[in-house]
Amino acid sequence: MTCRKKTKDSKPLWKVLLKWFLTITLTTTVISSILIWVVLPVAFWLSVAFQTFAVFMPIDFPKNPNFNNPQQYNITGVKNFYITVKDYYNNETLTQIGAWLVLPKGLNKSEDVSDIIRKSEYDILIYSHGVLANRARYILQYEVFRRYFLVLAMDHRGYGDSGQNVPMTELGIVNDHLQIYDWLTQKNFSRNIYYWGHSMGAAITCHTLKTLKSQRNFTPKGVIFESAFTSLQEQIVNMFLGKVFKWLPYFDATILRPLAANELRFDSINNILHVDCPIMMLHAQDDGVIPYFLGEKLARVARSQRDLAKQGNVTFHLIPSSGNCNHDKILTYPDVPSYIENFKEVCELFKEST
Ligand SMILES: *[C@@H]1O[C@H](CO)[C@@H](O)[C@H](O)[C@H]1NC(C)=O
Ligand SMILES: *[C@@H]1O[C@H](CO)[C@@H](O)[C@H](O)[C@H]1NC(C)=O
Ligand SMILES: *[C@@H]1O[C@H](CO)[C@@H](O)[C@H](O)[C@H]1NC(C)=O
Ligand SMILES: *[C@@H]1O[C@H](CO)[C@@H](O)[C@H](O)[C@H]1NC(C)=O
Ligand SMILES: *[C@@H]1O[C@H](CO)[C@@H](O)[C@H](O)[C@H]1NC(C)=O
Repeated sequence: MTCRKKTKDSKPLWKVLLKWFLTITLTTTVISSILIWVVLPVAFWLSVAFQTFAVFMPIDFPKNPNFNNPQQYNITGVKNFYITVKDYYNNETLTQIGAWLVLPKGLNKSEDVSDIIRKSEYDILIYSHGVLANRARYILQYEVFRRYFLVLAMDHRGYGDSGQNVPMTELGIVNDHLQIYDWLTQKNFSRNIYYWGHSMGAAITCHTLKTLKSQRNFTPKGVIFESAFTSLQEQIVNMFLGKVFKWLPYFDATILRPLAANELRFDSINNILHVDCPIMMLHAQDDGVIPYFLGEKLARVARSQRDLAKQGNVTFHLIPSSGNCNHDKILTYPDVPSYIENFKEVCELFKEST
């Protein structure tokens, strides 16, 4: 009797455990779902700092950079220096933009930066990197560029050692580039200027060229866009995280529209219409960060909506997946040096014809 009563009252251990297990699992699932699908988008919507960080990702690669010692990154013939720029929103605040001047063979590294630029027999290439990088990251790229150009590779504000806790905005970075251009032209050099932008750096470059045209009446000799996208909004929808979130009914309201409202647009698909020089675009078919069809679309628009005779033609090179170039190894593809050589010729001919 007592025995039977006991078994009736107390549940077997496995039932107790199962109940707890289910309760804990359910609670965890509900809480993490709310965090991921509700709190995260709402925090993104409300926090400009969150948006800025997610878009620019100003994290050092390589870590703990030592820009004064390029040998550490297996490159020589590099000069580290700084250009002072005024902030876009408060022109009394100054920021130091960290830069490397990567010298072609035969140039004298002992001379100062101004003299090297003034005397250069090489055209100047202004290189803009993308997110998760600083100017010490793309060494093998510089080794290819320096065969043809004197290379000016700078860290956008907020990256590398270009300012600590400075405001990072698209317009602010473009405004820095106008001042870098002004700084450069004061060197009285005789050669041409080319621009090269990678990924987000391509979007910055595209916006910069539009602004240089309207505010300085300047157009470079040529521009190269590597792994470029059409607009920030279109890139987000097509990237991994965007695909995970875009089914949310409030995706537009909490993710896409706040970015645009805060002037984070990278609207290359419109900016490129104002680029008045020949354009070369490179994109790897196996790019896992920026899908190659966005680069193709940008090229298609630039070709069909610009006046090619007056604004220059567009060359698009799709690098096959067999090259294993992905997002940032296009410069390892064996044909790229000849693409650069041919493009320089196209630019020379274009200058003559206009
Ligand atoms: C530089 O080259 C040396 C010798 O080839 C190599 O051991 C080292 O890992 C390289 N460093 C970087 C940062 O690539
Ligand atoms: C700085 O900004 C103020 C206010 O916008 C403007 O009046 C002034 O001319 C600017 N100064 C310089 C040196 O750009
Ligand atoms: C390089 O420049 C330095 C400083 O101007 C000069 O003293 C040196 O003679 C130059 N070297 C060569 C090889 O021209
Ligand atoms: C560039 O040329 C201008 C005008 O001729 C002159 O005032 C300036 O000092 C020169 N700058 C350099 C760095 O030589
Ligand atoms: C632009 O380049 C393409 C080949 O890349 C060529 O077929 C086309 O004729 C060129 N258009 C003009 C206007 O030069």
